[in-house]
Amino acid sequence: MSVDLGLSDEQRLIAESARQFCDREIVPRARDNDRAGRFDRELAGKLGEVGYLGAPVAEEYGGRGLDYIGYGLVVEAVGRADSSARTVVSVQTSLVCGSIEQWGSEEQKREWLPRLCSGEALGCFALTEPDTGSDAANLRTRATKTDGGWSISGNKMWISMGNVADVALVFAQTDPERKHKGLACFLVPTANEGYSSQEIHGKLGLRASDTAEISLDEIEVPDSAMLGEVGDGFKIAMTALDKGRYSVAAGCVGICDGCVEASVAYATERKQFDVPIASFQLVQELIADMIVRRDAARMLVWRAGHLKDAGEPSTIETSIAKLYATESAVECANAAIQVHGGSGYVDDYPVERYLRDARVTTLYEGTSQIHKLIIGRDATGINAMTPPAPS
Ligand code: CAA
Repeated sequence: MSVDLGLSDEQRLIAESARQFCDREIVPRARDNDRAGRFDRELAGKLGEVGYLGAPVAEEYGGRGLDYIGYGLVVEAVGRADSSARTVVSVQTSLVCGSIEQWGSEEQKREWLPRLCSGEALGCFALTEPDTGSDAANLRTRATKTDGGWSISGNKMWISMGNVADVALVFAQTDPERKHKGLACFLVPTANEGYSSQEIHGKLGLRASDTAEISLDEIEVPDSAMLGEVGDGFKIAMTALDKGRYSVAAGCVGICDGCVEASVAYATERKQFDVPIASFQLVQELIADMIVRRDAARMLVWRAGHLKDAGEPSTIETSIAKLYATESAVECANAAIQVHGGSGYVDDYPVERYLRDARVTTLYEGTSQIHKLIIGRDATGINAMTPPAPS
């Protein structure tokens, strides 16, 4: 693998303009939306207008045709501003648009991608269920064949944007005996009879992100609603997560970067013992550790992005980036609060929100433990995902 740590002029421009957009449009709203626990639909529309939803989608389908490095830079900037807005970008772009572009028929692409990329419509990724998180192949939602279509019933849990989406990618089992090879994925308009959702309240963080519990009650869809074919469902979910995890990792680099920036600003301003607290070696250590983590996480994201741009396998490198960047975001946010002292414990500064928002990233799109098992299985050839069957 060749090593190129530089950005092109175009990529630098993308990063700079993304940062300006986020400082202008996202940062001023972040605290109020967080306090109110409000999903900002208007902001989601602005993200679409500026081309940040579906940024890597081909231009002929309404995307911007960005490469993965460019997309990662946009997501990093949005993540530094507000992880709730970043969740809209990640889910809509990577999980929903990415799956439709990779697996959809021409008709499905033309029907959904332009509206999703522009922000006119929103999408959600309905994989997880109340009893099915890490063991994603083990779905209880059922799709039963009808004349000319399918009837889908089941429950989904922790679905980002499930209350506000116009279309849901619903994963369902068509034949339990076939296990993961029986799974299918359907494009379900949420206006369909039988779709209902409920908001999940009381979250530690991502309070301005919509999170839903979804009930699917004998939803009727035509054959043409299926993405790919029967049996493709698990691969669709895994390839979507390869993209989604990249996006989460890039957003977490943004959190690390925001922590560094806020901590340097605070430490050079705030005085104790008549000198800025940045004069103390122990404060510098906190800041230096954040910088090392941010830079290492960014390099891992860029490595995964380069592989994706080259069309090479990137599942393991994406897991490494996601694991390291999400854990680093939690570490950096915690350290940034330490630098801010009491002021970091209230929302006059962004660092307490960074910590609350970062915490979920080590859980969703594969827990840190699942990523270690993916990496370990690849290294050793031994699958430690499940305990050995009793002999
Ligand atoms: N790309 C393509 N195919 C893949 C793949 C990938 N990245 N990973 C696995 N597959 C294929 C395998 O090749 C295999 O294919 P065959 O059957 O043809 O051989 C098949 O899928 C089964 O793969 P595994 O043996 O790896 O499956 P497993 O059951 O051992 O392990 C797992 C799978 C890694 C544990 C997986 O279930 C997993 O990633 N779990 C975590 C689930 C997760 O991330 N959920 C997030 C929910 S979405 C969310 O959080 C979004 C939101 O709203 C914010």
